[in-house]
Amino acid sequence: MWAGMHAVQAQTAAPVQPAAASAPAAATASSDALLVEKGRKLAVAADCAACHTAPKGGASFAGGYPIASPLGSIYATNITPSSSAGIGSYSLEDFSRALRQGVRKDGAHLYPAMPYTAYAQITDEDTEALYAYFMHGVKPVDQAAPQTALPFPFNIRLSMAVWNALYLKDQRFKPDASKPPEWNHGAYLVDALAHCSTCHTPRNTLMAEDSSRYLGGGSLGAWYAPNITSDAINGIGGWTEAELVQYLKTGRVPGKAQAAGPMAEAIEHSLQHLPDSDIQAIASYLKQTKAVAGGETQPRYSYGKASLQSEDTQRGLIDGADAGWKVFSGSCAHCHQANATGTANGEYPSLFHNSVTGADRADNLVATILHGVDRTVQGRAHFMPAFGDAASFTDRLSDQEIADVSNYVLTQYGNPAVKVQVADVAALRAGGKPPLIAQLPRLILPAAVVLLVLVIAFIVIRQRRKAAGSSGV
Ligand code: HEC
Ligand code: HEC
Ligand code: HEC
Repeated sequence: MWAGMHAVQAQTAAPVQPAAASAPAAATASSDALLVEKGRKLAVAADCAACHTAPKGGASFAGGYPIASPLGSIYATNITPSSSAGIGSYSLEDFSRALRQGVRKDGAHLYPAMPYTAYAQITDEDTEALYAYFMHGVKPVDQAAPQTALPFPFNIRLSMAVWNALYLKDQRFKPDASKPPEWNHGAYLVDALAHCSTCHTPRNTLMAEDSSRYLGGGSLGAWYAPNITSDAINGIGGWTEAELVQYLKTGRVPGKAQAAGPMAEAIEHSLQHLPDSDIQAIASYLKQTKAVAGGETQPRYSYGKASLQSEDTQRGLIDGADAGWKVFSGSCAHCHQANATGTANGEYPSLFHNSVTGADRADNLVATILHGVDRTVQGRAHFMPAFGDAASFTDRLSDQEIADVSNYVLTQYGNPAVKVQVADVAALRAGGKPPLIAQLPRLILPAAVVLLVLVIAFIVIRQRRKAAGSSGV
C-alpha cells in the first residue's frame, strides 16, 4: 500500500448500523460508509464543488455555475445521483471515463473546463471512493443545469477528441520510488486532486498546459495565477514551508501575500478543510519543484518600503492634487491606512511587501480593485469591497480612476516599473485579453479550417478503424 494515500482516507468511521442487521451485513454497511466518507474527503481535496455547486446557496453538486471561458460560458453539469437530471444512471465505468478521460456517458466529449486532464491521474481506488460518494453521499437534485452553447467551430464536441489525442495523458499517478512518501503525497495532491497546475501553468495557443513551464504562472482572464515553482525570484523559493502552509490554510501571510479571486475560492472550499499533513505535503512538494525562471528581477513580495511616507511627500501629493492619491485617500486609505501600512492586527494588509503590488504585471492589483476580496476561512470573512461593480455598496470607480490609483500604489509602494493604462483596466474589466484560440472564429479563419480538417480526418480514421474492426480483420 502506498503510504502517501492515507491522509485522504476516512480517519473516523461513523457507520450507522441497522439494529437488526446480521453481522456480515453490518460489516458491509460500515465498509460502504467508510468508502463514502473517503470519497467525500477526496471530493473536497479535488474541489468538485467549486464548479458543480452554484455560488450563493446553489444546491450541492446540482451544477449551473457558468465557467467564463474565452470561448463563451461553459456550464458545469448536475452531478447529483438524480437519474433524470444528474449522473444517477452512471456506472463506475461511465463515471471513471467522465472523470479521467473527459467523455460523457452518451459518448460526447467534455470541454477541458472540467479538469479531467489533471483528474486523469486519480487512482482507481480513489475513483471508486468518489463514485461511492456521488452515488450514496450526495442528495439527488432533479433539476437540469443550463445547456452550454459555444460558437462554431467549438460547438463540435468531437474536436475535443483531437485535442485529447494531442494533450490528454491518460495515465494514473505513479509514485516515484526514488522520492519519500511525503513528496509523492504532495505530488498526487498538487497534480491529480487539487489540480493546481490547471491555473498555475501557462497554456499554449491551443489552450493546453505548457509542461515545460509547469507551475510557472498562468493567466486566468482578469486574474493571474503566479509562478509557484521553487525559483527564488519568480516563484516561491523565498517562502518558508511554514509560510506556504499558512497561505494555503488561511489565504494570508503578512508581508508576503493574500489570496483573492480564484485562489480565495480554492482555499475557502477546498484547501482549508484538508488535514495538516496534506497541506504540509503540498508545501514541501512546491519547495522541491523545478525552478522556472521569468522576467522578475526581485521577489514580488519584497517591493516597497516598510517605512512611512514623509510628511513632505504627503504634502507634495496633496498640493499637486495627484489623481491617484485622490482616489487612494478617498477609497483605500481608511482601510489600508494613509501610508499603506495596513492595520497592526493584519486584518487590512500593507500594500508594500505584497506580492500583488510587486509583481511584474498589474493584473491581480486591478482585478482586486474591480472584484474585491471575499474569502471566508474558519468561519471568518475577509472582505474588501468590489469597486468595479455598479451594484456594490461602494462607489464604482471608472477605468481612469482605477488606472490612476493603481499607478499611485505601484509607484509609491510596489513595482514602479509596472504602469497601468486605461485600456488595460477596460480589458481586465471585460474579463481579460482572450487567448488566440478564442479569436479563431472571427480573426483566423484559415486556422479554423485547419481545425475542421483535423476533425474530419479524425472522423474518417475512426470510421475506417470501425469498418476494419467489424469486417473481422
Ligand atoms: C474547474 C471546474 C470543475 C471542477 C473542479 C470539476 N468539474 Fe466536473 N465538470 C465541469 C464542467 C464545466 C463540466 C461540463 C463540461 C461540458 O459540458 O463539456 C463538468 C462535467 C462533469 C461530469 C459529466 C457529467 C455529465 O454527464 O454531463 C462529471 C461526471 C463531472 N464533471 C464530475 C466531477 C467530479 C467528480 C469532480 C471532482 C473530482 C469535478 N467534476 C470537478 C467543471 C468542473
Ligand atoms: C482556480 C485557479 C487556481 C487554483 C486551482 C490554484 N490557484 Fe493558487 N493562485 C491562483 C491565483 C489567481 C492566485 C493569485 C491570488 C492573489 O494574488 O490574490 C494564486 C496564488 C497562489 C499563491 C501565492 C503566490 C504569490 O506569490 O503570491 C500560492 C503559493 C498558490 N497560489 C499555490 C497554489 C497551490 C499549491 C494550489 C493547488 C493546491 C493552487 N494554488 C491552486 C489561482 C489558483
Ligand atoms: C473596507 C476596507 C477596504 C477598502 C476600502 C480597500 N481594501 Fe484592499 N483589502 C481589504 C481587505 C480586508 C483585504 C484582504 C485581506 C486578506 O486577504 O486577508 C484587502 C486586500 C487588498 C490587496 C491585496 C489583494 C491580494 O490579492 O493579495 C490589495 C492590492 C488592495 N487591497 C488594494 C486596495 C486598493 C487599491 C483599494 C482602494 C481602491 C482598497 N484596497 C480598498 C480591505 C479594504
